Amino acid sequence: MSLSLHATILLILINIHLSMPFTVILPDSAQLEGPQPGSSMANSGAKTDLREQEAVYDIMRATGNGWATDIPDVCRGRWHGIECMPDKDNVYHVVSLSFGSLSDDTAFPTCDPTRSSISPSITKLPHLRTLFFYRCFSYNPQPIPSFLGRLGSGLQTLVLRENGHIGSIPHELGNLTSLKVLDLHNNNLNGSIPVSLDRISGLNSLDLSGNQLSGSIPNLTFPVLSVLNLNQNHLSGSIPSTLLNLKFLLKIDLSHNRLSGPLPDINGLKELILVDLSYNSLTGPFPTSLKNLNSLQALILNGNPSVCATIPNDGFQGLNNLIILVLSNMNLQGSIPESLGRLPKLRVLHLDRNQLNGSIPPSFLKLNSLSELRLNNNRLIGPVLFSREMIWRMRRKLRLNNNFGLCYDAKSGLGDDLDTLFDAGIGHCDTPKPASTVPLQHISTVDEDIFRSSTKSAASLHKLSLVSEIIQLSTIFLIVFCVL
Ligand SMILES: *[C@@H]1O[C@H](CO)[C@@H](O)[C@H](O)[C@H]1NC(C)=O
Ligand SMILES: *[C@@H]1O[C@H](CO)[C@@H](O)[C@H](O)[C@H]1NC(C)=O
Ligand SMILES: *[C@@H]1O[C@H](CO)[C@@H](O)[C@H](O)[C@H]1NC(C)=O
Ligand SMILES: *[C@@H]1O[C@H](CO)[C@@H](O)[C@H](O)[C@H]1NC(C)=O
Repeated sequence: MSLSLHATILLILINIHLSMPFTVILPDSAQLEGPQPGSSMANSGAKTDLREQEAVYDIMRATGNGWATDIPDVCRGRWHGIECMPDKDNVYHVVSLSFGSLSDDTAFPTCDPTRSSISPSITKLPHLRTLFFYRCFSYNPQPIPSFLGRLGSGLQTLVLRENGHIGSIPHELGNLTSLKVLDLHNNNLNGSIPVSLDRISGLNSLDLSGNQLSGSIPNLTFPVLSVLNLNQNHLSGSIPSTLLNLKFLLKIDLSHNRLSGPLPDINGLKELILVDLSYNSLTGPFPTSLKNLNSLQALILNGNPSVCATIPNDGFQGLNNLIILVLSNMNLQGSIPESLGRLPKLRVLHLDRNQLNGSIPPSFLKLNSLSELRLNNNRLIGPVLFSREMIWRMRRKLRLNNNFGLCYDAKSGLGDDLDTLFDAGIGHCDTPKPASTVPLQHISTVDEDIFRSSTKSAASLHKLSLVSEIIQLSTIFLIVFCVL
């Protein structure tokens, strides 16, 4: 049970809204020293510390689990969610309490979500190392109690996930100086990130994502931090340079905030596996080199339209483990570097909605693992040289539309895949421009009767071209924005 809980905490499911779910598993070194379940009650003479027993009754009552007060010795109760350890005098102490049903095989006591709270008696459990509340107070919103800070230097894991907590993060949590995992994901916390958290020098994983935290990210210095999730908040200001000293970072997700300032130069963070800075207001230029990031598997920077930079020619050289590269909607200029075709493990490449020009680099033919390629809404020209095998591998995950200079060579055999390519919105190299260049005027004045009588596919074609015109117009706005 304990193992599966830890596995759940340490499995960092990274939902990047791509077709492919992506999982990073922390290496053993980052795992917690959890209590050993099962072994705890081996000695039948042992008894639970009486003060702690009373505290557990209080905590259980406060979560709507009054049944527990009928259990004469809580450490012998053996319900999932409590773990105890003996001291040298054979007295048992509570080291872990967990609430909320994570999955069928981790059935911790559930809370009554309408009237549960965290009992202050929790501070009477001096041996507590793990405290876990999941979906507990959703319909009885309450702040995170500041008395949790009194759990002092013993607590190693504090998880308050999806509990509906409101208010700000109490400064007192900075007193939990032995924490390795602090997870406050998906609550309604507001205010800024307390600077006091920086006192937790052994922190491995900090997850404050999915709240309404505002203000700038403090100058965090956690020397052994490996996971930093601050995504989906209202954080502003620039990314602090101190983050670039967190040498053990495996994952950093700051996406969906209001961060500004330049893209950080992460080239020194050699352990990184996943970087997601998408949907902010970061600016260029691109870091000139990322060649130290040999472990990097996913780099996601899309939705930062103020970047307005060129992709450096050799910027991605040496990223031999990169699987996902998402650079959509960043106002990228110039041509696509040949070196992007030399990323042996690349499976997902999104370069859509930029102003990339020139042709598709021939090196792309060597991307044997590529299963999703978006180049749509750019200014690419020239023939598409992909093999039929590659096109069928990607099918509808190949998007080339709205590049008015792209075409395919009739002699290439790709004509047989016309269906796929027609949906991709490109035509023969030797025929005039495809349908989507129909002027906006024509679309808007199209006779309604004609529209009604036309076949469904023709109607959707018209809609498509209208959409493409709108996208073209918005691109023009973006260019103006970029130059200013
Ligand atoms: C806990 O932290 C607060 C504010 O960060 C501080 O004022 C207080 O003295 C600390 N308490 C203990 C018991 O360390
Ligand atoms: C945080 O939210 C509470 C209500 O939940 C509100 O009273 C308070 O003013 C908010 N604080 C900030 C800093 O936004
Ligand atoms: C972080 O440090 C920088 C430079 O040392 C300083 O200018 C900035 O105000 C600090 N930010 C915060 C939030 O303390
Ligand atoms: C591509 O765009 C860049 C800058 O936007 C420009 O300098 C260059 O001439 C363009 N190249 C081509 C082939 O159109």
